[in-house]
Amino acid sequence: MNIRQLLVQRAVAAMVAAGLPEDTNPAVTQSTRAQFGDYQINGAMGAAKKLKANPRELAQKIIDHLDLDDVAAQLEIAGPGFINIHLKPEFLAAQLVAANQDEKLGVQVHAKAQKVVVDYSSPNLAKEMHVGHLRSTIIGDAVVRALEFRGDTVVRQNHMGDWGTQFGMLIAHLEDLLNQGIDLEAVALADLESFYRDSKKRFDDEEGFADKARDYVVKLQSGDAHCEKLWRLFINTSVKHSSEVYHKLNVTLTQDDIMAESAYNSELHNIIALLKAKNIAVESQGAQVVFLEELANKEGEPSAFIVQKSGGGFLYATTDLAACDYRSNKLQADRILIFVDARQSLHFSQVELTARKAGLLRDETSYEFCPFGTMMGEDGKPFKTRSGDTVKLADLLEEAITRAQAKLAERESDLSEQERAEIARKVGIGAVKYADLSKNRTSDYIFNWDSMLSFEGATAPYLQYAYMRVRSLFRKANIDVSTLNAAITIAEPQEKALALKLLQLEEVLDQMINEATPHVLCAYLYELASLYMTFYEACPVLKDDISTQLRDSRLVLCNLVANTLQQGLGLLGIEVMEQM
Ligand code: ARG
Repeated sequence: MNIRQLLVQRAVAAMVAAGLPEDTNPAVTQSTRAQFGDYQINGAMGAAKKLKANPRELAQKIIDHLDLDDVAAQLEIAGPGFINIHLKPEFLAAQLVAANQDEKLGVQVHAKAQKVVVDYSSPNLAKEMHVGHLRSTIIGDAVVRALEFRGDTVVRQNHMGDWGTQFGMLIAHLEDLLNQGIDLEAVALADLESFYRDSKKRFDDEEGFADKARDYVVKLQSGDAHCEKLWRLFINTSVKHSSEVYHKLNVTLTQDDIMAESAYNSELHNIIALLKAKNIAVESQGAQVVFLEELANKEGEPSAFIVQKSGGGFLYATTDLAACDYRSNKLQADRILIFVDARQSLHFSQVELTARKAGLLRDETSYEFCPFGTMMGEDGKPFKTRSGDTVKLADLLEEAITRAQAKLAERESDLSEQERAEIARKVGIGAVKYADLSKNRTSDYIFNWDSMLSFEGATAPYLQYAYMRVRSLFRKANIDVSTLNAAITIAEPQEKALALKLLQLEEVLDQMINEATPHVLCAYLYELASLYMTFYEACPVLKDDISTQLRDSRLVLCNLVANTLQQGLGLLGIEVMEQM
C-alpha cells in the first residue's frame, strides 16, 4: 500500500479537471503534524504562481474536483493554499487488515522490475578488511535487500581489488616463504596485515627484492603460469578472510558475487583502443589521458583523467571503464549503484563522463555514485586503534559481541549460556550496523560504543527489545496471532497515529531505494517503535474491561508492529530474537 501514490493520482486527476496542465506537480507530502492532517497537497501554490492566480482560490478549485470520498474524512485549505487531508479511520483499518494477511505486509512489488547492479564492499585483497569497508558493505547490503523486497533484479558486484603493482611484491615474498617450507594457512597468511608489512619492508630495504617484485607484476599481467599460481594462492586466502567477515556481519554477499578487478584484465586493451579511435583519449607525456572540460578547475584547465600509464600499464580507472561496459552493455543494467568512500567522488565523475562519451555506458543506464562519509573516533579523527593503526573489521566485530555480552549480563535472565551467546551476537552486530546505517550516508560520524549499545534511544538493542516485548505479549496471553484475522477499529488518536505509520513502510522503502539511503528506514523503525510505546500506554490490550473485539483489533495492530519491525530490521541485515 502506498497512500502517497494513491493521493498523487487523485490529485493529478483533480488538477487536470480544474484546467491545469498534466505535468503540474501535485507536491503531495506526509504532514509533519497531526493538526495539518495526515497528508498535504501543496501543488496549488506552485501552479498558481505560474498562472499568476490566487493560490487559495486555485486550491478550492482543485478540492472541488478532488475525488477522495473513499479515503478522506475531511479536507481543508490552510495557509497560503495547502490542502490538508485527514484520512478516514475505516480506510486505514481496511488497508491494515489487508497488510496483516499479506506476507510482504502490503508492500507491492514494482510493476516493472528494474535490473540494478550494486557495487559494494569491494575490499582490496592485499590487506585484511578494515573499518573503512564496513560502511560500503552494510549500506550496500541494506539497499540490495530493499531493492529485492520491492521486486527488482539485483546483480551484486564485489569489485575486489586483486590486481595492481603491490601484488608483485606479495607473491615474490610468498614464493620465498613457500620455498622455506612455511605453512601458508597457519603461519604466513594467517595475518594478512603482517604479511603485507613484511613484504613491504623487504621491498623497501632488501637488495634485489624490489626488482624481482616488479618483474613479477609484469609476468603476472602477461599471464605467466608460475606467478599466476602464487597470486591465486594469495587471493584465495584473502577472499576466505573476507568471507568470514561477511558471515559474521550477516551480509548477503557470496563468492558468486565477486567480480574482481582482474576479471576485466583482458578487456583493458580494447578500452584504450576505443578511447583512442574516438579521440577521447590523447597522448600526453607518454600516457593516455582523457581531458574533461566538464570538470575544469577555476582557471579553466580541464581535469586530466589518466587511463593508461606511460609504460603501458593500466590503472584502477581503466578497470572502472571496463566495468561500465560490462554492467551497462552486457548486463543491460537500468541502474548502477556504487557504494564508495566520498573521497573517490572525482574518480567516479571522470569515469562516468568518459564512459558516456565512449558509449561504454548507455543513456538508459543511470550511473549513481553513492558516497559515504568517514567513521571517526571520539577524537574527531578517522577511527584508529590506540596505537594509531587501522582497525581490522574482524576485531571490531568481535569487540562488539563481547561488549554486548557484558551489557546483557547486567540483566536478569534464565536463558542458557548458549542462548545468551547467540543473543549477544545479534545485539552486538546489530548495534554496530544500526549505528552506522542510521546516520545520513554522506556525513562523517563518530563511533561510540556506549551509545550504540544502549537500550534507550535510536539503537538496535532498543528496537530488538521493542520487538521482543510485543512478541512476549502474545506469549503471555497464549494467543496465536498468526491466525488472528480480526476486523480493525481505529478510534483513539494513538491508534490512528500507529496505523498511519504502519501503512507508510512502502513509501519509506521507495525513498530508501531511490536515494540509496538506509537511514530513512532506520528512522522509520524508531518512530514506529516509539508510536507503539505511546499506543500501548494509552490503549489497553490485555485488560479484562475491554471487549474481545477491541482486544483482537489491537492485537492485530501489535502483530503488524512486530512483523514490521522484524521485516524492517531484516532489510537492514539486523536480526531479532524472541527472548532477551
Ligand atoms: N577497492 C576499492 C577500495 O577499497 C573500492 C572499489 C569500488 N568499486 C569500484 N568499481 N571502483 O577503495
